[in-house]
Amino acid sequence: MIKITDLTYSYDNKTKALDKISLDIERGSFVSVVGHNGSGKSTLAKAMVGLLENYSGKIYIDDIELNSSNVHEIRKKIGIVFQNPDNQFVGSTVKHDIAFGLENQCLEQKEIKNKVIYYSKKVGMSRYLDKEPHQLSGGQKQRVAIAGALAMSQQIIIFDEATSMLDPKGRQDVINLIKEINQQDNITVLMITHNLNLAKLANKMVVLKKGKVISYDSPKNIFQNREILSTSKIVLPEQYKLYDLMKNNKKISKEILEALWEYNLKM
Ligand SMILES: Nc1ncnc2c1ncn2[C@@H]1O[C@H](COP(=O)(O)OP(=O)(O)OP(=O)(O)O)[C@@H](O)[C@H]1O
Ligand SMILES: [Mg+2]
Repeated sequence: MIKITDLTYSYDNKTKALDKISLDIERGSFVSVVGHNGSGKSTLAKAMVGLLENYSGKIYIDDIELNSSNVHEIRKKIGIVFQNPDNQFVGSTVKHDIAFGLENQCLEQKEIKNKVIYYSKKVGMSRYLDKEPHQLSGGQKQRVAIAGALAMSQQIIIFDEATSMLDPKGRQDVINLIKEINQQDNITVLMITHNLNLAKLANKMVVLKKGKVISYDSPKNIFQNREILSTSKIVLPEQYKLYDLMKNNKKISKEILEALWEYNLKM
């Protein structure tokens, strides 16, 4: 679905924000992207949706090589919810904002209205349809942005820290929704996050460091790889420490340790 080869990019011609990135992302997969501040996550996302120019390397979306003349076509396939919800509120009200992308899809007004109602309800914003952006909290704006992206029904959606301002219940609801579109509608999901409890929900995780991919593997393999964790400064959630304590105890069987992992990864 997404193929990237040797992608390199610099904002200032000095430091590389992306350094020879190569990745293959399968259709329908759920991939999380982690790495500390400034490691290149958002830049990678921008590249994939055609927001960067003058990069070297190639980006293929659905076997089509991204270039300046087809970026419009590619955007029909790939959507993004940005880190900062203020930068993407384009409608005058919540309902206009969710409908914005749909207006360009030449849908009938009734269908647009139905989608706005359906997705605003899914993100818990149906009572706010006539509110203006300045009347909303950060988390509410994030919910609107997510509703707008989901309503577009693109084949790939990138969430760049898109749930960072949500309260725990809101985040769980949105995560369930993301899992639902991934599993039921086969939409390819890329989730950029600092939250390892979210990152581990993916089939595969990309670990970025200084613009390089230092690992692309299952969350379990990455979480068990001390070297990757320490070089990328990833700190595992508390519950994994129990595993470390038990690992050195010879009385505890492999089966129990394995079960503990499975349990932690599902939690
Ligand atoms: N618009 C910009 N102009 C110049 N440099 C930039 C710009 N945006 C990002 N950078 C630089 O590129 C590098 C990668 O930034 P990027 O935003 O991709 O990191 P990130 O992994 O998304 O970080 P965060 O976790 O803080 O969101 C950083 O060194 C950053 O300073
Ligand atoms: Mg970022």
